[in-house]
Amino acid sequence: MNLNPSPWWQSSVVYQIYPRSFCDSNGDGIGDLPGITSKLDYLKTLGVDIVWLSPIYQSPNDDNGYDISDYRAIMPEFGTMQDFEHMLEQMHARGIRLMMDLVVNHTSDEHEWFRQARLSRDNPYHDFYIWADPVEGREPNHPTNWEAAFNGSVWEWNEPTGEYFLHMFSKRQPDLNWENPRVRREVHNLMRFWLDKGVDGFRMDVINMISKPWQPDGTLPDAPRVRPGFLQPGFGMSLNGPRLQDFLLEMKQEVLRHYDCVTVGEAPGATTELARVITDREQGALDMLFQFEHMHLDAQPGQSKWHLKALDLSDLKVTLSRWQDDLAESGWNSLYLNNHDQPRSLSRFGCDGQYRVESAKMLATLIHGMKGTPYVYQGEELGMTNFPFQSIEECQDIETLNMYADAVTGRGIDRAEVMQAVRAKGRDNSRTPMQWTTAPHGGFSTGIPWLAVNPNFTEINAAAAVADEESVYHYYRSLIELRREMPVLVHGQYALLDAENPDVYVYARALGDERLLVICNFRAREATIATPSDIVGRAYRRVLGNWPERSRDASQTLALRPFEALMLHARVTD
Ligand code: GLC
Ligand code: CA
Repeated sequence: MNLNPSPWWQSSVVYQIYPRSFCDSNGDGIGDLPGITSKLDYLKTLGVDIVWLSPIYQSPNDDNGYDISDYRAIMPEFGTMQDFEHMLEQMHARGIRLMMDLVVNHTSDEHEWFRQARLSRDNPYHDFYIWADPVEGREPNHPTNWEAAFNGSVWEWNEPTGEYFLHMFSKRQPDLNWENPRVRREVHNLMRFWLDKGVDGFRMDVINMISKPWQPDGTLPDAPRVRPGFLQPGFGMSLNGPRLQDFLLEMKQEVLRHYDCVTVGEAPGATTELARVITDREQGALDMLFQFEHMHLDAQPGQSKWHLKALDLSDLKVTLSRWQDDLAESGWNSLYLNNHDQPRSLSRFGCDGQYRVESAKMLATLIHGMKGTPYVYQGEELGMTNFPFQSIEECQDIETLNMYADAVTGRGIDRAEVMQAVRAKGRDNSRTPMQWTTAPHGGFSTGIPWLAVNPNFTEINAAAAVADEESVYHYYRSLIELRREMPVLVHGQYALLDAENPDVYVYARALGDERLLVICNFRAREATIATPSDIVGRAYRRVLGNWPERSRDASQTLALRPFEALMLHARVTD
């Protein structure tokens, strides 16, 4: 038996803020720290325990702050260090903890380390990054055939040293060389800098990319050829590398174990086996991971996310159940459908028209009913939707812009087809400004927002949601409150029920004699399920639901309305 009390982050709910789009306090069209501080009462009322703040550090914004040029400075557009300290103090005063984004797989090309590194091969910072000579006798003469996450080669030429440097993302995001102990020491130091200021943890950007698959001769291998042409998908080549564990355990030893903090590692390509090891309570280095398997289910297998495919509900059941089951004894799950890299889940897996409210609540029930730490992305609690992008000029995101150029200009794919993929999957969908009120630009800014506000702000906004007891917002409040009140939600064992049902996701949570049944109809029509055996013939209580309560007899089947979600509670002693 594990006698350690359960850590605070296991019973917490996290709220992610994308600072550029949350609240603009000074009318320059860009969200900022004083804007966030002004909305802390809103978050307190919602009930969240932790805020995860996407990067606020100094950055040339090639990738909206995920390209950092100074880890210890605040981006001037967002405010000052005083603004930061005030915000943190005000969060703590409300019992809200702060999780910072830690982006240390790469820096900006404007970081002082890289400015130095690229000057000469014997500069003391040269070895902070990853360099390789051209390969004689092949065309192009790149060190490997890897395609970068934001298109093009991962290799960019550096004239002063006559070498290539590696960038897994944009060419303005050079990868750090984690084999160099000085790099690791610098990272530990900057982590301590923020922890000593009082921050409560880190979300670690693509942390499972830091160890590269070096070969004994000091080169990197080519990616397998899966398509014509030189460039091949390269992203997978730098995931879960051989020294990942070492680097993370060292970080725990040097930094994390000395603080009462929470960590979540972003880990594309992570398997449950890896997650069990990395997030083991005693032996593991991190508290939880963001896995991506469920985010790939609506793309063609083996293809990029832009190759659209309708979600098959049974794939979602299999995937999420595997994560629940495999981490039941060791490790811990993070639970999410939304973040700043994903389109709005409501438009993606629910219905953003007639059943917007019902389907937003249904998806929330699915996620918040599971075992793990739930994450709410700004605006998710309002049922915000994807943006009706008509032309690429309306987009800002580097990933989308590069993909579009590559597809339309480079490969001659039909514009309309590409725009359809952008509407479905583009990251700007979730980055449009937060919709606060019916004022111009949704009350986000008194100026012109950096990215247009979704025109549906007149209907979907925080002021309207707070005023309406039946809103998505109040439903999230209830879900968050339930987690505090019901230990079965935090600790209960998960079991998938009715696995074959193509329309409804049903699962149970069990703790002692308590049973919590979570039932989610994924269709815009009525559906029927076999009544879960735990409640057949038993008194049960409806804990929460997204349709008006109606009397049900404890018969063999349970009828559900469109997108109906239910949480039912029973005791199995009687
Ligand atoms: C992570 C971030 C994403 C960013 C990328 C490169 O996936 O979430 O927004 O573009 O890393 O830093
Ligand atoms: Ca501003």
